[in-house]
Amino acid sequence: MALVDRFERVHDYLRISVTDRCNLRCVYCMPAEGMQFLDESEVMTDDEIVGIVKAGAELGIRKLRITGGEPTVRKNLVELVERLAAIPGIEDIALTTNGMTLREQAHALKRAGISRLNLSLDSMKPEAFQAITRHGDYVRVWRGLEAAIEAGFSPIKLNVVLVKGFNETEIVEFIRLTKEWPLIVRFIEYMPIGQDADQWRARYVPLTQVFEEAKAAGLTLEAGDQVRGNGPAEYFRVPGFAGQIGLIHPVSDHFCATCNRLRLTADGKLKPCLYWEDEVSVRDCAHDPEKLKELFYRALKLKPEKHEMARAGELLENGLTPTWRAMSQIG
Ligand code: GTP
Ligand code: 5AD
Ligand code: SF4
Repeated sequence: MALVDRFERVHDYLRISVTDRCNLRCVYCMPAEGMQFLDESEVMTDDEIVGIVKAGAELGIRKLRITGGEPTVRKNLVELVERLAAIPGIEDIALTTNGMTLREQAHALKRAGISRLNLSLDSMKPEAFQAITRHGDYVRVWRGLEAAIEAGFSPIKLNVVLVKGFNETEIVEFIRLTKEWPLIVRFIEYMPIGQDADQWRARYVPLTQVFEEAKAAGLTLEAGDQVRGNGPAEYFRVPGFAGQIGLIHPVSDHFCATCNRLRLTADGKLKPCLYWEDEVSVRDCAHDPEKLKELFYRALKLKPEKHEMARAGELLENGLTPTWRAMSQIG
């Protein structure tokens, strides 16, 4: 009994937000003052997450991605990962992190069962990095990246959200980083989630800019390899370079037709689509496998064919909010 939705999409991938809190305040994600965070009692416990994942695994969930907020600020994340890795059917567990505590945690997370790592690194200039993340420490994150490489994560993907006025001048430098380093640098379009339309419009950079700048710098981008992962990126490489370049363009060209993911929010809601209001509360049934299975199917039924991020400006101006949650509350 696979998780197939109304549009014949098979779902085998669950993104779990284990906390809505974060130790950074990236400009495209959170206001400087932070936000109204969940009370500890509103956040799912380890037992509840494990119960929900067990039911999902019986329905065909094979891959998990642990997200936040910043997942590593959750207490005892390592123990939770160990328990998730032991669930029959779960084949792959990945983590998306800002890297602030990776130096200390990389080896333990690897041992616990995380195989793949996506690290947010929006700038290689300490000042710009600080401006984007507000509280980030570039050297600390870079040391975290080195620890992750040592620990043997493979592949490691760097997520670079392009934000006009902050880091769009570093495209070529990021491409050149893949010359020696076997990393996958992924440029991501800034999504209009949780911020006002004007700020988003003023800062959005379309990814056509990556091709233009690569060409101007004399760098050829040819089709890359199929990268392990399940996600929305298209991959390229500069011939002879060790790493690859990924492009994620949820705004200018959505990839909904091949979407294979469901989300579980930190407060225990199954969310069928990133950019859609509907969600199904599962926390109360976390220890009732049969009821949970029914709720997984209910969430699938609510999944739309595609999101309307490209029309975000228009929607926001007309007072329509396709999702009330910020990215840090979705994961
Ligand atoms: P893998 O392919 O497994 O490595 O994961 P991923 O790339 O989906 O995960 P990650 O958490 O690194 O997210 C990177 C970017 O992908 C985010 O910044 C979003 O822009 C985008 N993204 C992730 N999930 C979705 C989704 O469900 N819909 C859309 N439109 N964009 C998404
Ligand atoms: N647009 C695009 N990516 C975003 N992220 C957070 N907010 C946004 C946004 N508005 C990214 C983070 C992280 C991933 C989980 O989502 O940088 O890499
Ligand atoms: Fe924190 Fe990630 Fe949001 Fe940055 S993008 S504030 S690291 S949750």
